Amino acid sequence: MAIKLVFFTLHLLICCAVSLSKITPRFPSFIIQPEWLSVSTKSELYETKYYTQILDHFTYTPQSYQTFQQRYLISYKYWGGATENAPIFVYTGNEGDIEWFTQNTGFMFDTAPHFKALLVFIEHRFYGESIPFGGNKDVAYANASTLGYLSSTQTLADYATLIIDLKKNLTAFDSPVVVFGGSYGGMLAAWFRLKYPHVAIGALASSAPILYFENITSQYSFFNTVTNDFRSESENCYKVIKGSWQQIENTAKQSGGLEILRKSFRICKNSYMSAADAVESWLSTAFVYTAMTDYPTQSNFLNPLPAYPVKQMCKAIDNPKAGNNTFEKLYNAATVYYNFTGNVACYDLNDNSDPHGLGEWSWQACTEMIMPMDGNNAESIFPHSEWNYTERAQICEHFFKVQPRPNWITSEFGGHNIYRVLKRFGSNIIFFNGLRDPWSGGGVLKDISKSVVAIVAKDGAHHVDLRFSTDEDPEWLKDVRRREIKIIKSWLSQYYRSLFETSQ
Ligand SMILES: *[C@@H]1O[C@H](CO)[C@@H](O)[C@H](O)[C@H]1NC(C)=O
Ligand SMILES: *[C@@H]1O[C@H](CO)[C@@H](O)[C@H](O)[C@H]1NC(C)=O
Ligand SMILES: *[C@@H]1O[C@H](CO)[C@@H](O)[C@H](O)[C@H]1NC(C)=O
Ligand SMILES: *[C@@H]1O[C@H](CO)[C@@H](O)[C@H](O)[C@H]1NC(C)=O
Ligand SMILES: *[C@@H]1O[C@H](CO)[C@@H](O)[C@H](O)[C@H]1NC(C)=O
Ligand SMILES: *[C@@H]1O[C@H](CO)[C@@H](O)[C@H](O)[C@H]1NC(C)=O
Repeated sequence: MAIKLVFFTLHLLICCAVSLSKITPRFPSFIIQPEWLSVSTKSELYETKYYTQILDHFTYTPQSYQTFQQRYLISYKYWGGATENAPIFVYTGNEGDIEWFTQNTGFMFDTAPHFKALLVFIEHRFYGESIPFGGNKDVAYANASTLGYLSSTQTLADYATLIIDLKKNLTAFDSPVVVFGGSYGGMLAAWFRLKYPHVAIGALASSAPILYFENITSQYSFFNTVTNDFRSESENCYKVIKGSWQQIENTAKQSGGLEILRKSFRICKNSYMSAADAVESWLSTAFVYTAMTDYPTQSNFLNPLPAYPVKQMCKAIDNPKAGNNTFEKLYNAATVYYNFTGNVACYDLNDNSDPHGLGEWSWQACTEMIMPMDGNNAESIFPHSEWNYTERAQICEHFFKVQPRPNWITSEFGGHNIYRVLKRFGSNIIFFNGLRDPWSGGGVLKDISKSVVAIVAKDGAHHVDLRFSTDEDPEWLKDVRRREIKIIKSWLSQYYRSLFETSQ
């Protein structure tokens, strides 16, 4: 089993003894296709570079002048070159190892030849190899004195300085830059365009929930979407899952109940399980991540999945073979997410490994990324719960000795009345959202202006547009990508026209 991605929310909701690893990242990120990128071909795709980055862009204190090595990946393979002013496509890295994201930003690789684009993927500070304080994670992750340099504003400034320096080195001053990002990376791409219009001419922000702050988006939206994903497959599927939580809790309370749960779900003998919550969060994780990555083709997120995995889960639940045995149905559904390969001997609920290096998200989720998204209303497929800021703040105080700043993101980047604001200010941003993606509720779903546009795919999941194209892609997905390419093309033509005019 790959890493057990558990939501901030689900754990706070169900669990009693919250461990740090359990409130970890849980900001959904990319999907990998290991079959596509083997180690041997990797070196042909891009070169790995390091840039000496400044620790703190916003003060002039002695400490701010410290530097660290920031990793970025670059591919010249398709670039038309500086003399042609050929474009530069930059991926604004998310909360994890940049190579992992690269492996699934197929859209950039797929379109680079067409645009003759240089491809650059920049790693987010404090993730992967881009660790301040001499690359020493023990120091960098030690406490708020060092983690304090991990923020979205510092990160955007990193991206700006790196891009500007790279263009200088390539004498590519007039090459237009377009930024791309998915999920949190998509938020960064959109914000980058708004904050650094002199560096990037446009942004493709895929599945970027920039409106999931303060009370802009309903706290129930996320789990309502998960609920609808399953309910739209079958009412029975929804009812079985919804009814199961009480049954799990009742079973756990019986004498020998934990043993029954362990047997029913093939949980490893050595897996620590003190109560129902371990099983509940293990199951919820499978349902939530399957909803998020409900792709029309076979994929490999943290776990390999078949095409249309939600449908597969509901098929397992609706299968009459399991009779009225709810646990057997749930076990079969969980198999779709946890054991598609058939290689898992038993399920280890203690597996908190983090192969993609997402761990520092918990710091971000305790400081500025306060996204109230864990409410479950009466309709929800999960047990009732309400977003509780006090609880989050207490956990953050406990682990990091920091108080969150829940209003910072909207102060810095906006969000309230975004249609009114960006209509008169922003330009050249594509917001893509797939409506099967639970995060889509916090996304921009309507066009804001002629050039700040929303592309919405009813059947799409989390940043499905950025994935590699495959022969099995449905027509709607091909159409989304065609529209994105057309829009980016129009930004570039407009840029080249004005470049020509001003140089006259
Ligand atoms: C924070 O961690 C650093 C590096 O390990 C250490 O030098 C410092 O004393 C710590 N500060 C606090 C307040 O614990
Ligand atoms: C630009 O070139 C300088 C000098 O070789 C180098 O130190 C720096 O890292 C380069 N910048 C980037 C973004 O690679
Ligand atoms: C959000 O909260 C503010 C302040 O309490 C309130 O004025 C506003 O109406 C709320 N907005 C929404 C969308 O609920
Ligand atoms: C489930 O099936 C068993 C055996 O067929 C039966 O005895 C039991 O009453 C059923 N329970 C429910 C709730 O339908
Ligand atoms: C995973 O699938 C294989 C093949 O179907 C099966 O033999 C194995 O028991 C499954 N593992 C678990 C934990 O259910
Ligand atoms: C929110 O969490 C705090 C701390 O755990 C708790 O004391 C409080 O009762 C909770 N509030 C609600 C409305 O549940």
